[in-house]
Amino acid sequence: MKSEKNENSILSFKSSNVIRKIEFFENLDSTNTYLESRKNESEGLVIVAESQSNGRGQNNNKWVSEKGGLYFSFLLKPDFISPVLSIMIGLTIIETLESFGIENLKLKWPNDILYNNSKISGILIESKIKGNIPDYIIVGCGININQEIFSGVTEYNPISMKLITSKKFSNKIVLNKFLEVFENYYKYYLSQKTELIINRVQDKIYKKDETVKINVFDFNFIEGKIKALDNDGALIIQTEQGDKKLYSGRIVKNLST
Ligand code: BTN
Repeated sequence: MKSEKNENSILSFKSSNVIRKIEFFENLDSTNTYLESRKNESEGLVIVAESQSNGRGQNNNKWVSEKGGLYFSFLLKPDFISPVLSIMIGLTIIETLESFGIENLKLKWPNDILYNNSKISGILIESKIKGNIPDYIIVGCGININQEIFSGVTEYNPISMKLITSKKFSNKIVLNKFLEVFENYYKYYLSQKTELIINRVQDKIYKKDETVKINVFDFNFIEGKIKALDNDGALIIQTEQGDKKLYSGRIVKNLST
């Protein structure tokens, strides 16, 4: 693993309760993988890399991580984990990008942030649970900021803030905004006041009121209309057999068109 840390660029995020320390690296294989090696540290450590040589995405996909994008992971140690966590991180990314003038963003349940059907950001949450209590949670986020080309990305259409606006952004300023928004919503998550989080996401749900096919696990699929998110983070799907609540899965097809 190549990990060139610039000691001068370690900074403390003082005005915050949870985020404790941010460390910047030129290159890592994956910020999630590296942070796992530091899982015994206390909550709030953030690891950022300018590029990743083995960036990881959902479903064992690779996350192409060339310079220009923002790649970071942070360590959380709450005493519970719920599906609301990834929804809350998605909302945080959407509000962060909106604050830089990017509109029409949607949360493709449970983990993708889309701009007009193109992917601008993805989330990879990895955790170790002992009993029912998480030992640690690693939240990894990739945000496409200044990239103009995405070599080798075939699973989805990628887009970046720069491609949308024709402007260059500071990755550090975007990261700081993310952390500020995160701090606020994490308080609601911890106090289990998830209604506020869920209410803010409802009208940002990708394909809401449309009929989709969802891969639930392995070769199990379910078809139905996306109705809403429940307060516990589940996706409510209207099917021929009635409403169903899904806690994990992947939207694979739009059947409305
Ligand atoms: C996805 O949409 O498939 C999830 C992508 C998550 C990518 C981020 S980049 C920072 C962190 N480190 C990784 O290796 N993956 C996540």
